[in-house]
Amino acid sequence: VLFGDSFVDTSVQQPYISLEERGLQFGDGIYEVVRLYSGVFHLLEPHLVRLYRSMEEIELKPTFSKAQLVRWLYELVEQNQFRGDGMIYLQISRGVQPRNHIYDPQNVPTLYAYIVGKERPLSSMQQGIKACSEQDIRWLRCDIKSLNLLPNVMARTSAERKGCTEALFVRNGIVTEGSHSNFFLVKNGALYTHPATHLILNGIVRQYVLSLAHTLEIPVHEEMFGLRDVLQADECFFTATTSEVMPMVQLDGTAIGTGVPGPITYALQEAFSEGVK
Ligand code: PDD
Repeated sequence: VLFGDSFVDTSVQQPYISLEERGLQFGDGIYEVVRLYSGVFHLLEPHLVRLYRSMEEIELKPTFSKAQLVRWLYELVEQNQFRGDGMIYLQISRGVQPRNHIYDPQNVPTLYAYIVGKERPLSSMQQGIKACSEQDIRWLRCDIKSLNLLPNVMARTSAERKGCTEALFVRNGIVTEGSHSNFFLVKNGALYTHPATHLILNGIVRQYVLSLAHTLEIPVHEEMFGLRDVLQADECFFTATTSEVMPMVQLDGTAIGTGVPGPITYALQEAFSEGVK
């Protein structure tokens, strides 16, 4: 079961998308990925806050209220009788309009969402993953969760061809984030991550991990750092809705710290898991 206002063709029970849908032609839209554990939403509210912020930043005006959207999301879970671990992909684009670079701010947006099962990545969280550095060639509004993911897609594919699970973006010598995750390093017991500027997406799990660190009394520095700092770090990890707290144990073939996930990463994983039960 999916939902979307204008666009489920009830005669065939198939969703359809118009040829002149701006999300398709221009990537003119935004999205969210929300996690469910045992059929229960995880961190839904901050995802909605970010969704509305993304819409506002691109002048996309929803034709539905936030309360309506929340009702649809719960209906999606109920109609699918979804009780497992999974995720909802939710996309809102500018809608249908004769192809033109100029958008009409009054255009009716297209909304759709669907739910899929997704297990927690427990074994990679235990073992850690390898990452490869890639040039961050994205635009200067990475804070918007835009549909334009071509640089992310290319970087991750390039990293995968070099035997890596994630790409670590570097812009002008500064490590920004992963291709689909945020990035943290641990040095001398303190946590470092790129500040939430227009150069990164302020991840929901990033924000959550910062709050967990606060509770665990782990010092946090939202500061810029370079690749050398990463290679000299004691521990490193990525965070994302689908990856949780994912240790990075190797970068470009060089082991990080002892080459296995470290104690602070582990403590944050534990604290995260506590919130999932
Ligand atoms: N990606 N940075 C980028 C570029 C991302 O695409 C994501 C999420 C994150 C982490 O954000 P969050 O903690 O809110 O998931 C950071 C999603 C999961 C995706 O595109 O699949």
